[in-house]
Amino acid sequence: MKVSIIGGGGRVGSDAAFALQCAGIVSEIHLLDANEKMAEGEALDLLHGTSIIGDQRIYAGGYDRAADADVVCITAGLRRKPDESRLDLINRNVSLFKQVLDSLKSANLKKDAIVFVVSNPVDVLTRLAIDALKWDPARVIGLGTVLDTARFRSLIALETGLPASQIKALILGEHGDSMVPIWSTAEAGGIPLVKLPAFNATQQGKVFERTKKSGAECISLKGGAGRAVALSIAEVIHPIALDQPKVLPVSTQLAGEYGVRGTCTSVPTLVGRKGVLKRFEVELWPREVSALQASSKALDATWAQVAK
Ligand code: 2OP
Repeated sequence: MKVSIIGGGGRVGSDAAFALQCAGIVSEIHLLDANEKMAEGEALDLLHGTSIIGDQRIYAGGYDRAADADVVCITAGLRRKPDESRLDLINRNVSLFKQVLDSLKSANLKKDAIVFVVSNPVDVLTRLAIDALKWDPARVIGLGTVLDTARFRSLIALETGLPASQIKALILGEHGDSMVPIWSTAEAGGIPLVKLPAFNATQQGKVFERTKKSGAECISLKGGAGRAVALSIAEVIHPIALDQPKVLPVSTQLAGEYGVRGTCTSVPTLVGRKGVLKRFEVELWPREVSALQASSKALDATWAQVAK
């Protein structure tokens, strides 16, 4: 199973390639970048490790090499400045993203290829990809709040001292300022988190706020996130590669769930080789549903700017 990473010479794209290489599930990784030298350097650096980690085919190349990809992962784009929101980034990234989509349209991609958007603002760019490619929307998926959910679970573990792997807590909605913490179903080992002793509402609020600001925190400390983004990208690619469906909070175009239609945003979604298999309208607290609807409205407002 082959993945082409558009932006593979950048931090997120090359970290994603390394995460995929270490997991050993995909058999071929193609790195494409406007900075061809960087893509070649990253591909060579990864290739040097194949004798240790596994016999994947790893190389750099142009859009012609994306024609036989099963998943085309787009990480290309400019990074936010620490005080910039992901939605502010839209003006700088839309034209670049449209060029990528134009190149993909003429790359003669496989009829069952999946386009997987990571570039920010991911929800709006996922919708732009659906709009531009005119594919079945099920074949276009955005990373959405998979990364936020990973951060939320890990930071709850840090605060409570419980094992991160046992924390089940979702972030839904926009991968951005209007993201929504889902406390109604949050649990650890069967214990509802909101009822956990020594994890009160103030601490819950603190953990969510830090989750929301984690992207900016990584940017201010190290110039930008890479590692957890890469693991989140692999988390989405693997159920596609193996066709072992998994429920993930990826960004897809909603068709009426929670009263939202047309917006690309994150709700629990079953993902497999064919892309979006099913979305789940899980029962949430009323305030969570309204926050999700408000988040979609914020995304629609930005979409209105882009689509004109
Ligand atoms: C982040 O939150 C890159 O948007 C990504 O770090």
